[in-house]
Amino acid sequence: MKGVILAGGLGSRLHPLTKITNKHLLPVHDQPMIYYPIKTLINAGIEDIMIVTGGNSAGDFLRLLGNGKDFGLKHLNYTYQEGEGGIADALSLVEHFAEDESICVVLGDNIIEGNIAAAADEYRKQGKGAKILLKRVHDPQRFGVPELDGERVVKIEEKPSDPKSDFAVIGIYFYDASVFKVIKTLVPSDRGELEITDVNNHYINRGEMTWNELSGWWTDAGTFESLLRASNLVAESGANNL
Ligand code: DAU
Repeated sequence: MKGVILAGGLGSRLHPLTKITNKHLLPVHDQPMIYYPIKTLINAGIEDIMIVTGGNSAGDFLRLLGNGKDFGLKHLNYTYQEGEGGIADALSLVEHFAEDESICVVLGDNIIEGNIAAAADEYRKQGKGAKILLKRVHDPQRFGVPELDGERVVKIEEKPSDPKSDFAVIGIYFYDASVFKVIKTLVPSDRGELEITDVNNHYINRGEMTWNELSGWWTDAGTFESLLRASNLVAESGANNL
């Protein structure tokens, strides 16, 4: 399985911090944000990694990460997303990299306490379709929210005003190579983006979606409040160990 980190977008919710630099280069406690998703993949045994960046300071990723030596990697792959077409648009850029293998996609502003090794192993056994990870939250309106029927995910709604559960779909996803065909069928949402939630609903409608509940804390870091929370959680838990 290959790994993909999506670190494009304009980070407009963090202006003026992101007027000059890229959101994923900002500090989370004592490390740049992008370090955390890289470690999430490596801890799951995924070392063939593509970073999709975009917007400001894209070249700084190369200067910061190089070929990934600080993480014990021999090589890192990079690509560039023009504009802010959405998470699924950023993902469409890695079709050539995936080469028909399955992929684990991590959003560049998602930070976890533990690891996803068990979920990755389960998905390797699953072999096809998709897997998402869910986490109970107090503010589901900010996220993709699943509607559950027993153990089955029936549907996911993006930032619903009336959430059907108190779970968030976190920004770590497992897909087979058919994800790129799915993305080609998408149309932009009301916010003008190709939505990862629409991709996930395709797999749900095909009966090919599984899910696990993530253990340990999880947070995004894309708003002032969550960026501060991320730093505090990392500082308190020592989740910054390489
Ligand atoms: O954090 C989990 C949530 O992430 C999910 O629950 C939602 O379903 C999902 O849509 C997403 O929600 P956000 O609206 O918070 O995503 P955001 O626009 O902040 O983008 C998250 C990351 O995705 C960002 O750090 C970089 C990457 N991204 C985003 C966009 C819009 C790109 O690489 N390119 C893009 O065009």
